[in-house]
Amino acid sequence: MSTIIRINNLKLYYDQFLALKDVSLDIPEKAITAFIGPSGCGKSTLLRTLNRMNDMIPATRIEGSVQIAGSEVYGEDVQVEILRKQVGMVFQQPNPFPKSIYDNVAYGPRLHGSPGKAELDELVEQSLRQAALWDEVKDFLKRSALGLSGGQQQRLCIARAIAVQPQILLMDEATSALDPISTLKIEELVQELKSKYTIVMVTHNMHQAARISDRTVFFLNGEIIEADDTRKLFSTPSDSRTEDYISGRFG
Ligand SMILES: Nc1ncnc2c1ncn2[C@@H]1O[C@H](COP(=O)(O)OP(=O)(O)OP(=O)(O)O)[C@@H](O)[C@H]1O
Ligand SMILES: [Mg+2]
Repeated sequence: MSTIIRINNLKLYYDQFLALKDVSLDIPEKAITAFIGPSGCGKSTLLRTLNRMNDMIPATRIEGSVQIAGSEVYGEDVQVEILRKQVGMVFQQPNPFPKSIYDNVAYGPRLHGSPGKAELDELVEQSLRQAALWDEVKDFLKRSALGLSGGQQQRLCIARAIAVQPQILLMDEATSALDPISTLKIEELVQELKSKYTIVMVTHNMHQAARISDRTVFFLNGEIIEADDTRKLFSTPSDSRTEDYISGRFG
């Protein structure tokens, strides 16, 4: 597996507070990487550095380097809109726009270009198919997205994210607000998507990380304690703190 994201000696401060302490990590392309660890250990913070969502939080300061496909994410000439097109994100709470199903998926492609109707129809269908939602919504594309169930809304948000053809998809606890069946659907979907996209997901559900990810990264207090092949990390962790965490002794 080749590396697509390369993080080197990254520090992130929220004002005086050092939330990421010298983090280095390589993330492989077209694979699923899971971030696990107790609440407040920095999983979301690190995830947000990958598409500069932290830029929106005042008083954050960064040292070190994050590279995606060889380009510096915090380089001076980076256009953040283009970066976020390349690195899409799905959040914990499904957040469709108060627009039709069709317009939600068409939003990004319209923003980044002026596709014709046929091209857009094709892109919307293809994205909804990839998000395993097409069959459920194909007859009501003009209906409001807000009328969908939570699980359908989350798959719509995935369709919206992939409609701009990103390289990387970030998911921050994207199934934690969903019922078990919707969760399973999204897990299956994510496993299919990894043939096309690099996926980095934060999860509190260790079973989920063990079930679907290829690599797992364990965080504690703003540091990476262990990053390894998922099977290895869950069966024979190298660090006793990882062992304690995965066996439920803390967190
Ligand atoms: N906007 C912010 N301003 C100040 N401190 C923050 C901010 N966001 C996060 N922090 C702090 O940075 C640390 C890491 O937070 P982060 O949200 O990355 O943790 P997390 O691992 O995602 O936790 P959780 O599992 O609860 O989502 C925490 O101590 C948190 O309080
Ligand atoms: Mg978080």
